[in-house]
Amino acid sequence: MVAGSVIAVVAVIAVVLTVLQPTASPRAKATATRTASPTPSPTPTPAPAPVPTFDKTRFSIDDPMSLWVVVDKLRPINPQSFVPSDLVDANVPAVFTSTLREPAARAVEAMFAAFTAETGESLRLQSAFRSYETQIEVYANNNYDDTQSARPGFSEHQTGLAMDISPASGECALDECFANMVGGQWLAANAWKYGFLMRYPSGLTQVTGYAFEPWHYRFIGTELAAELHNTGIQTLEEFFGLPPAPDYQ
Ligand code: DAL
Ligand code: ZN
Repeated sequence: MVAGSVIAVVAVIAVVLTVLQPTASPRAKATATRTASPTPSPTPTPAPAPVPTFDKTRFSIDDPMSLWVVVDKLRPINPQSFVPSDLVDANVPAVFTSTLREPAARAVEAMFAAFTAETGESLRLQSAFRSYETQIEVYANNNYDDTQSARPGFSEHQTGLAMDISPASGECALDECFANMVGGQWLAANAWKYGFLMRYPSGLTQVTGYAFEPWHYRFIGTELAAELHNTGIQTLEEFFGLPPAPDYQ
């Protein structure tokens, strides 16, 4: 009787222990399965496409014959008497002369033609190449105002790559209101395609040294103009890491 009870108790304990036997959780099973399988070979990462980098050192920013020359209040034209060797008269309307360096002349011809084709209106040059001597007069005519006019030897116009543009009518010529006219708006949006930069933009007098001049465009070539457009950098000083030039030394 006692032995039978013992056997019964042992049997019950055995059953209970069997029931309580830990079973592998699905997670554990999965882990075991994964561990047992061969290590999967990593998915090959495709090599990143090379990012084209713009070579900022490709052309000189010091040589006055370079399309990338940077002229500002801290960077006079050197030599002071510099006259470009490839001046031509651009075939566009002009108040005085249309004399520019040859690549700038060809570019402004193409740009003015495109403007007329797209808008039905016409543009003209207010001013183009200016010699050192001419800049003496311009500076005096601007009452020696350093925010409006460059001192002789410090004007981009002496490079033969800068020009002042106005509507053919002369309305708003050399005036901020040009920015609101069809010509000013079109140039601000499209001049980069022809290799030009609005050199003295609004709000950047502390960098360029000059008040907003929506009429003054500088030829820098289509590659650099596109790079500035694409990066959103507005001044040559910022693009080339040059110091701001609000004042003369
Ligand atoms: N008006 C520009 C700054 C010049 O005189 O060259
Ligand atoms: Zn100008």
